[in-house]
Amino acid sequence: MPLESSTQPVLPRPEPARRFCVAPMMDWSDRHYRYFARLISRHALLYTEMVTTGAIIHGDRQRFLGYSAEEQPLALQLGGSNAQELATCAALAQTAGFAEVNLNVGCPSDRVQNNLIGACLMARPDLVAEGVKAMQDASDLPITVKHRIGINGRDSYSALRDFVGQVHEAGCQTFIVHARIAILEGLSPKENRDIPPLRYEVVHQLKNDFPALEIIINGGLTQLGAMTEQLQHVDGVMIGREAYHNPYMMADVDRLFYDDPRPVPGRVDVLKAMRPYIEQHLERGGMMNHITRHMLGLFQGLPGARHFRRELSSSLHRTDQPLALYDRLIDEMSQRLAPRDCSA
Ligand SMILES: Cc1cc2nc3c(=O)[nH]c(=O)nc-3n(C[C@H](O)[C@H](O)[C@H](O)COP(=O)(O)O)c2cc1C
Repeated sequence: MPLESSTQPVLPRPEPARRFCVAPMMDWSDRHYRYFARLISRHALLYTEMVTTGAIIHGDRQRFLGYSAEEQPLALQLGGSNAQELATCAALAQTAGFAEVNLNVGCPSDRVQNNLIGACLMARPDLVAEGVKAMQDASDLPITVKHRIGINGRDSYSALRDFVGQVHEAGCQTFIVHARIAILEGLSPKENRDIPPLRYEVVHQLKNDFPALEIIINGGLTQLGAMTEQLQHVDGVMIGREAYHNPYMMADVDRLFYDDPRPVPGRVDVLKAMRPYIEQHLERGGMMNHITRHMLGLFQGLPGARHFRRELSSSLHRTDQPLALYDRLIDEMSQRLAPRDCSA
């Protein structure tokens, strides 16, 4: 249950199914994107952007923990390393009704390294283990860890295996592994998502060495075939940029990853279904662009995709009637697309 409407502690939800996860992405996987993504896949496990423990403890809780009930199943990603603070936040996450708490041990940003957050913690398995244990003691939620296969200066397989072994001993059963190392000096976070080579075989080896653990692979997956192929080796996939830039790829997720053959809304139906949500946001004084900026890739690869993107970005800035523009786009995109793409 979302924080805003919860009056008392909520019972833990069932263990979420992680065969297809949408990655935590700062500034991208916010509640508006997640609401939109949920219209395309009923089952994908969605992750929040990373929220630091400090922000939750000292900041605006509604802002950092608020979400719409429709987004579930939804995992909260935390950034931090102080066991007590992590425990406090895990308990708050349970009260707010999240399905999982995930600890970020993969972000290479300088800003977070200075606070012992993110990938630098791969050199501190003791701290990660302590944090995981504290969170488990403080809540009934599954506690998972998202990490890299190493960091510069500590990138051997044995160091990775020891990291996973030590954190598992503290109680973590699920590891989401970004299949490249992070280089903590000299590369920007963006470069750190592209330059260190992908090494899927290292993640497969982890699954071989820890068959009882749930291992989710992440990094560079863009094709559904390659994603399903990964299920031969690991328990699930986590997809970031492709799920953001080409969101309608998620239309095949329920069928391929969750054995759910029910039809999903067509692209134009998704546009229509977002309208009441946008209208409510506007009524509360929000800007339409806060929501629609996440929808620009909805028609990727189809006729009219560029028109849709341009209208929803530059034309939107020039109008004082944003909903009228939105309604016009619904009509135009319905006409441009073959019936198959409108509702199937
Ligand atoms: C804009 C952006 C923001 C990101 N923010 C986070 C974050 O808050 N926490 C995190 O663990 N990873 C973050 N990541 C990394 C992704 O979760 C993922 O590990 C990475 O993009 C590789 O997956 P992909 O190749 O499928 O995109 C971010 C990635 C992007 C593109």
